[in-house]
Amino acid sequence: MSTRETLSLVRGVTLAPAAEGRRALAGRIRLMLPPTSPGVGAALDALGAGGHSLEELSELAGRDGLTHAAIFQSLLGALRAHGALARLLHLEGVAIAALSPEGSSLARGSPRASTRYQLSRFAFTRVADGGTLLEVPLSKPSVWMPTWHGPALLGALATPRLPAELGAAVPGIPEDAAVAFLGMLQEAGALAEVDPEGVAVEPEALTTWEFHDLLFHGWTRWGRQERGYGGATFRFRDRLPEPAKKPAPPGSAIALAVPDLARAERSDPPLTAVLERRRSVRAHGSRPLTRDELGELLYRAVGLRRAALERRGETEARPYPSGGAIYETAVYVIAHRCEGLETGLYSYRPEDHSLYHVAPRSPELEGLLKLAAAGAMISEPPQVLLVLTARFARMAWKYETVAYTNMLKHVGVIFQTLYLVATAMGLAPCALGGGGADLFARAAGLDPLVEGSVGEFILGTRPEPAAPERQGEAPAAAKGS
Ligand SMILES: Cc1cc2nc3c(=O)[nH]c(=O)nc-3n(C[C@H](O)[C@H](O)[C@H](O)COP(=O)(O)O)c2cc1C
Repeated sequence: MSTRETLSLVRGVTLAPAAEGRRALAGRIRLMLPPTSPGVGAALDALGAGGHSLEELSELAGRDGLTHAAIFQSLLGALRAHGALARLLHLEGVAIAALSPEGSSLARGSPRASTRYQLSRFAFTRVADGGTLLEVPLSKPSVWMPTWHGPALLGALATPRLPAELGAAVPGIPEDAAVAFLGMLQEAGALAEVDPEGVAVEPEALTTWEFHDLLFHGWTRWGRQERGYGGATFRFRDRLPEPAKKPAPPGSAIALAVPDLARAERSDPPLTAVLERRRSVRAHGSRPLTRDELGELLYRAVGLRRAALERRGETEARPYPSGGAIYETAVYVIAHRCEGLETGLYSYRPEDHSLYHVAPRSPELEGLLKLAAAGAMISEPPQVLLVLTARFARMAWKYETVAYTNMLKHVGVIFQTLYLVATAMGLAPCALGGGGADLFARAAGLDPLVEGSVGEFILGTRPEPAAPERQGEAPAAAKGS
């Protein structure tokens, strides 16, 4: 069976003639190439058309002499440095794998004959463009497999293999094709070397990483994704964005008192004192929080304001910042012991500074309160549990790869604002590191993919001085906090 490797441009990039005998890359990568000799031009055109090996391309460029062959090599280097080259592996004339971009990692994939390899625990596949795509959050190159061969070889690499053993493990794939495929995986950072004891060796720094954390981290920072960094791409611009104002929930509104901010400004402790006094207070006092206190905290931390912003004129604003001024986060209140508020779930609507009754006491609400108490290591349910939700589509309308990470950053800024206002008011605040998204969706009757819970925060009155309050380091069981 014949195995062959060819070089082409990555998907989404084309090569077209430009003015003055030049050629230019267009599409996802834009690059103007210098004028070239006819042979180098033919080699570039053949590269753009695909289906030629490096040797064939070099031969075309070499027709004009050694100097032009060298010029072609340096042009390839430039294209490689821009991530514009892909390497394809063919078996019997059929492409079975494409490494894209090729050459971006230091080592050209050449597995050592005496080393056993297995698939890295960070490699994963998914369906893409009518084939199977293998990606690794540690590196940019991916391997796209349009036929069964690649996925079958990946299956064989679930256990350690020497390069020479890999082909034999999958009937129908010759050894040289299996080894070339292994080289692609190595270049994509998808392989782990296995030591003589059978242990997959990975760099010390990787041992503490969970697969999902590395994927989330790698793909929400600049430079790790072949398709590029998806900041404000507005990819859903043809659709209506989720409205800034959520429609008022059904049911009657419980208007909350608007606090006197001028009075608060006069009577609050100074900012430095609030910052220095801020602590997580987990246990609550015997006096329940009142509806007015809850209303004041919500208004001061997450309430709606109007502000004159530079270049944006008079607009809506909040006390906390939000990426793109999207303000996709909503606040729900689970009242357990709050004077003036029946036990149940409420939705806070900043537009009219009101609470809307969503659901009475239910097993789901009990479950959420229990989870919160366990997270904070307290024996009683908190007086009030605030649940922050994100309206995912509102954020994704503008942002692409960074949409979810920004939502979590918003939870962070809201947490700190709640902490500071609660501290200034003499209340007991504590952020929680986890909560039940499905449980909350059931309790609130929400689709968790449309509006899901992303943050939890407990609140109450401070315990009486007689009851010693544990402060500072979170208890062991609250780890992840
Ligand atoms: C994102 C976040 C998650 C947290 N999760 C928890 C938690 O689940 N349980 C808990 O008891 N404390 C939690 N805390 C509170 C921390 O344990 C606390 O901030 C830390 O111990 C420092 O103490 P201090 O806030 O009193 O200064 C969390 C804090 C943050 C910011």
